[in-house]
Amino acid sequence: MAPLVVAIDGPAGAGKSTIAKALATALNIEYLDTGAMYRGVTYEVLRRGLEATDVDAVARVAREVKFEQSATSLHVNGVDATTAIRTPAVDAAVSHVAANSAVRSELRERQREWIVSHGGGVVEGRDIGSVVFPDATLKVYLVASPMVRAQRRVAQHGGDVNEIARAIAERDERDSTRDDSPLRQMPDAVVVDTSERSIGAVVEHIRELLNEKTEES
Ligand code: DC
Repeated sequence: MAPLVVAIDGPAGAGKSTIAKALATALNIEYLDTGAMYRGVTYEVLRRGLEATDVDAVARVAREVKFEQSATSLHVNGVDATTAIRTPAVDAAVSHVAANSAVRSELRERQREWIVSHGGGVVEGRDIGSVVFPDATLKVYLVASPMVRAQRRVAQHGGDVNEIARAIAERDERDSTRDDSPLRQMPDAVVVDTSERSIGAVVEHIRELLNEKTEES
């Protein structure tokens, strides 16, 4: 039997990490943050003084880099980079790294291996339901209004809300228009708007959707 996979996709600030983690806890299964992997490659690229737009050098880093990842931490080549992968420098460079096809194919393989070794899980990203796990048990596409998304980022990391709204819009644009596996809503994904609902209500809603799916099959 195929392992249970819940794919959670959507733009930055839609609530993916919070919801995906809470859902994994509620279902008592594992959680994988694939954005953290793209950030981990970017962190290592910047640490080595490379340009995020240097396609070949960045691809080499992606193939070589060793991650140890848990639901709450990421070690990159043995160094705890949990906080360092969330800096503005990484934010600014990561969508260039994520547009690199060689990086994507390497990380995609690692994500598929992760599901096999963990026997399923909740996987969060941009291309999970579209490319990485097109046969996922349930595909959820999370959305929230642009202002709510910017306010959430400010609450997490501080900063100016208008500046952050602009940075999010730029990153969405790059993530949605890249050639390789752009962010997009799949026809078989359930769209869930998190703007006006509590975390608990969204998690409960997704659990109900998952129950319906597993009862169908
Ligand atoms: O979710 P996040 O903000 O941590 O993602 C960081 C970047 O990685 C973001 O620019 C989109 C990209 N990404 C991607 O292209 N594919 C994924 N599966 C996950 C993230």
